[in-house]
Amino acid sequence: MSENSYDVIVIGSGPGGYVCAIRAAQLGMKVACVEKRSTLGGTCLNVGCIPSKALLAASEKYHEAKHKLSDMGIKVSGVTLDLPAMMAHKTKVVEANTKGIEFLFKKNKVDWLKGFGKIAAANQVDVEGKIYAAKHIVIATGSDVVSLPNIAIDEKRIVSSTGALELGSVPKSMIVIGGGVIGLELGCVWNRLGAEVTVVEYLDRILPGMDLEISRESQKIFAKQGLNFKLSTKVTSAIASDKGVDIVLEPASGGASEKMNVDVVLVAVGRKAYTDKLGLDAVGVARDDRGRIITDHHFRSNVAGIYAIGDVIAGPMLAHKAEDEGVVLAEMLAGQSGHIDYNLVPGVVYTWPEIAQIGKTEEQLKQAGIEYKTGKFPFSANGRARAMNATEGFVKILADARTDKVLGVHIVGPEAGTLIAEVGVAMEFGASSEDIARTCHAHPTLEEAVKEAALAVSGRPIHM
Ligand code: NAI
Repeated sequence: MSENSYDVIVIGSGPGGYVCAIRAAQLGMKVACVEKRSTLGGTCLNVGCIPSKALLAASEKYHEAKHKLSDMGIKVSGVTLDLPAMMAHKTKVVEANTKGIEFLFKKNKVDWLKGFGKIAAANQVDVEGKIYAAKHIVIATGSDVVSLPNIAIDEKRIVSSTGALELGSVPKSMIVIGGGVIGLELGCVWNRLGAEVTVVEYLDRILPGMDLEISRESQKIFAKQGLNFKLSTKVTSAIASDKGVDIVLEPASGGASEKMNVDVVLVAVGRKAYTDKLGLDAVGVARDDRGRIITDHHFRSNVAGIYAIGDVIAGPMLAHKAEDEGVVLAEMLAGQSGHIDYNLVPGVVYTWPEIAQIGKTEEQLKQAGIEYKTGKFPFSANGRARAMNATEGFVKILADARTDKVLGVHIVGPEAGTLIAEVGVAMEFGASSEDIARTCHAHPTLEEAVKEAALAVSGRPIHM
């Protein structure tokens, strides 16, 4: 094989792309990955999951030290925020992760082709004018922020998630447009650091797509933390100047408008597949009405030799979904078979408390006409949660009324994102609520709330 020719060229080095490249190399293929950024890791590592978690962790500790430690008998005074140092912590975490991928590429002999990659022909990739040949081309270019008409993102006063991770000072006031995952995570960060945050959501609820009861409970908890909510409301204009952002709100169904002036506006109304300028039309790769590449169950596009994974195809825009697709595709290209259960992709919101779900929501079960039993257990009745002073929220398990098979689990509460993994494994093995209830759970742990919710499905929780 010549120097410029590969078995697999992956375009994009986010969690989908870099994982696919590494797995393909592990399986003996000659692999290159094209990346236009100066660092590997895509949105997730550079300006998404990782930096936001660094700020969530740091802002949570700050808030705890300032407001919550005294509840546990720890007196602290003079707690002040050093925002540049907090940002430096974030940068260090991002660098460790992106450099880590560079190391893994070297270890696995994946070539990093630096620059903007586009498809020149069915088996050719153009990187900044240089042509590389590949038996298989994998598009893993991810997604980009959706902007709103008439609202120009300048990443200073009107920011996307990228700008919201880089603010140079704590705004006095902030409007977050969109009560989804990004809006809540970053809204919580700036609220904890001292901003007056108002979340404006078009629908009559936050976190659409999550279980309604969990979403309502989460909103109550966030409101207690000081977040303001304006539901069923739309933003009709936002104009930035030296004096902040003049913003006009209106009821979603129309009506009298309200004007506000805030320091910063965060636009968090979703993301869209990033497939611009990839040369897809020239080679005839079909896309759907949302610009996503249409693939079959083997991630094949309609053009032989061109595949797509992650945010550029249908399904939840989640790093772990993209990673799993990357692994499965690499294994398929190596002649093996892989499998993803799309029903069991967990979703986690990394606020405090965390929110996590897997499987079906109560609304989905009702809509599908499936009869189910519900088991719920509050963290206020869990000894470990009390000891941690973290008693808000509950675990809810939905099980088939006839077979007892667990169909969905929804948690708002401490460590919800970690707790959901247990039920993910159980559900992958087809567990019933009885299976979870009869599994010995260590005491005292937060996991006992999961066990108690499983017991509650058949009406026999012990601690309630
Ligand atoms: P999202 O789809 O989660 O939420 C967008 C929200 O904006 C929705 O509630 C929607 O109803 C609302 N909205 C849309 N247009 C509006 C308008 N004109 N005015 C007011 N509200 C409006 O999108 P988000 O939060 O931007 O996240 C983008 C993607 O990134 C999602 O797919 C999300 O799953 C993913 N992500 C995942 C994270 C995680 O797993 N922890 C963290 C951050 C992002």
